[in-house]
Amino acid sequence: MEKLNIGIVGVGGRPAAFLRAIEISDKARLAAVCDLNRDAAEVAVKDIDNVEIYTDYEEMLEKAKLDAVVIGTPIPLHVQQSIAALKRNIHVFCEVTAAKNLAEARQLVEACRSSRAQYMMGENSNYHHFNMIVAEMVKNGLFGNVFYAEADYIHDCRDLWVKTPWRRKTKDSKGVTYGTHSLGPVLTWFRDDRVVSVCCAGSGRHNFDLDGSPAEWEDHWIMLCKTAKNRLIKISTNFSSPHPFTHFYYLQGTNAAFRAERAGGNFLNARICIPGISKEEKWDELSRYEDQYMPEIWKKYGEKARGGGHGGSDTIIMLDFIDAIYDGRPVPIDIHASLDMTLLGIYSVISAQQGGVWVEVDDSRKW
Ligand SMILES: NC(=O)c1ccc[n+]([C@@H]2O[C@H](COP(=O)([O-])OP(=O)(O)OC[C@H]3O[C@@H](n4cnc5c(N)ncnc54)[C@H](O)[C@@H]3O)[C@@H](O)[C@H]2O)c1
Repeated sequence: MEKLNIGIVGVGGRPAAFLRAIEISDKARLAAVCDLNRDAAEVAVKDIDNVEIYTDYEEMLEKAKLDAVVIGTPIPLHVQQSIAALKRNIHVFCEVTAAKNLAEARQLVEACRSSRAQYMMGENSNYHHFNMIVAEMVKNGLFGNVFYAEADYIHDCRDLWVKTPWRRKTKDSKGVTYGTHSLGPVLTWFRDDRVVSVCCAGSGRHNFDLDGSPAEWEDHWIMLCKTAKNRLIKISTNFSSPHPFTHFYYLQGTNAAFRAERAGGNFLNARICIPGISKEEKWDELSRYEDQYMPEIWKKYGEKARGGGHGGSDTIIMLDFIDAIYDGRPVPIDIHASLDMTLLGIYSVISAQQGGVWVEVDDSRKW
């Protein structure tokens, strides 16, 4: 079978991180790229031969004979660009988040149902190898019954508000509007369950913008999620405070606990405690369990991926997507798994607008 023709839109920004995976793969080639900024697109692909360069997305979809497109443009463009590809039966790998609101999410589900192509949201945090090792350990029963998880995402984006003003519009509204990096891994640990209700509250406005003006958004948001099986998840986000980048995860089960902090691509202090196994019932390094519970996709591509973005997870996730499309299998994060992560953020806004009340969460599988 011929290699898949892949196109990338927004290649001047974030999705350049996926070029390495396409280069490594023997199942795909980069056929075309698109960016409003042609110079940025040319720089991104300067070392790759025979790549068509476009500045108009629809023109790329029409002319470049793509099998799949990677969408890495600002969030407000995700749904319209995904639908444009799905209508042409071009598979979609779209950056987070999948949709901005419920109306958009419904349009996306409808487009997926009418298309022969598949849709996957590229939540790379699910592919961090420690998060995947924990998922394997949960699947193998080491945690017993998992019942509580939390994840905090603290990223001072005030310089990015200036460089990419669209971010301010998505992140400054009420609620946990950019929570998929935290929710994604947690939902893989609670795989046999689903979140049925959320509530959300903010800390009020205390910070200042980089130019000294008072912040227009609330600083710290917390969302609580209740699952059908009576488990609890706490997610918090903070994008406007002086604090080093921190992504903290904690998982508690009846037999074991896990905690880790991510700083950039690396995990710091990834620890696990399994009473009876961990020394003196204290925290053990998670790396002790790495060989035994390494997920298949990391065994297959880990060595090649490690130098890639976000600890190699950017490369691994793209290779997993390419393999699924090439082999004709369902993608690993389908439209509904993508919306399981995205919809909670949308419902957190609805809760926050109503003073933090618990709101029920729709299951997109029933739409
Ligand atoms: N998963 C992660 O770890 C991660 C990290 C950073 C960003 N992101 C996501 O990646 C996406 C892009 O973020 P970014 O920081 O690169 O944003 P950005 O504002 O820098 O935009 C990315 C590129 O898209 C181009 N672009 C904008 N509108 C376009 C259009 N209509 N047609 C073609 N090109 C267009 C821009 O010129 C730019 O080069 C967002 O969805 C963001 O949420 C994800």
